[in-house]
Amino acid sequence: MSDTASLQGVSEAQLLIPLGDYHLQPIAHQKRATRNADLWSPLRYPGGKRQLVPFFVDLLKLNDKSPLDLFVEPFTGGAAVSLHLLAAGLVERVVLADLDPLVHAFWHQACFNTEQLVSDIQAAEVTLQEWHRLRADPGKTLREKAYACLFLNRTSYSGILQGRAGPIGGQKQQSKYKIDCRFYKDEIVFRLRQIGELAASGRIAAVRRTDVHATVRWVEKSYSESSRLYYFDPPFWDKGERLYRKAFGQKEHERLAKLLTGLHTPWVLSYDYHQEIIDLYRSSAQEANQDESDLVPAGSPRLHTTDLLYCNRHEKRGATELIITNLSKVPEERINDARR
Ligand SMILES: C[S@@+](CC[C@H](N)C(=O)[O-])C[C@H]1O[C@@H](n2cnc3c(N)ncnc32)[C@H](O)[C@@H]1O
Repeated sequence: MSDTASLQGVSEAQLLIPLGDYHLQPIAHQKRATRNADLWSPLRYPGGKRQLVPFFVDLLKLNDKSPLDLFVEPFTGGAAVSLHLLAAGLVERVVLADLDPLVHAFWHQACFNTEQLVSDIQAAEVTLQEWHRLRADPGKTLREKAYACLFLNRTSYSGILQGRAGPIGGQKQQSKYKIDCRFYKDEIVFRLRQIGELAASGRIAAVRRTDVHATVRWVEKSYSESSRLYYFDPPFWDKGERLYRKAFGQKEHERLAKLLTGLHTPWVLSYDYHQEIIDLYRSSAQEANQDESDLVPAGSPRLHTTDLLYCNRHEKRGATELIITNLSKVPEERINDARR
């Protein structure tokens, strides 16, 4: 039975499996003392993949890749997975890249101008007026854009930086939750300084504002000697354009499939679960195989699914995540293996 056929025969409920001991916690409930070997992103990123951390921890161990020389996130967003793997010592260095100029500016300043961003955050007046000012004009310099990114991320609904997402608490601020309810300055500063330390010791090797294709070309050229793993987390197939300032249309999804099915370096890709994506990766892998039989390492990319819990103030909802990888071993207990 093919992977696709076996996937089609499995109900949604069967695809959902528990992710072990990980679950989302609001900042107020986290104990700082227990986080020495951990690092949480200062960004509340829409579609952030913090919940995939246990999957990556087990994946690295299973494939004898820990510690790994280099972990690359070409769609960085909030960099949830990179930060955890770095802090836990499972990877030596990471490369972060994102095409969104605000997101790039944030990571650049957090890493290489930490104290400047810290002082901007400490001085921030977390008001509706400031929110409107930054939405109208996030600024031109890296410093301005980094501040705007972090401010808007922590004061807008679901951390969304664009479009229809309004300020937390609404335009009238009549809700119990006001615009500053997620702007924990001390905690944000603590996280920024952890990031600054990692960057100062060279463990955040590069922060780039590049398209995914340029990132892969650059990494393959610059780090060909290093053991490396890519984690691709592109904008959602469905409704991605509502969440991110950089759109990713059908053409981009197809180009990404071509890039990955021709890439020899180990990679993991995560997506919201859609049959079209499975079909796309199957046909792309087949094409790559036809052109040159050894293009796709270890046979075709493998499909797996796991569950994630996305939550906001009003609801918690589960979603099945599609994981595609060219690694041969995946942690069975973390996924529902589509090959079975
Ligand atoms: C799903 S989010 C990544 C979330 C991240 N994994 C996390 O845990 O926070 C996708 C990111 O891809 C970025 N992006 C969109 N198009 C891109 C492109 N062509 N190249 C690189 N990054 C892109 C968006 O700006 C967005 O930050």
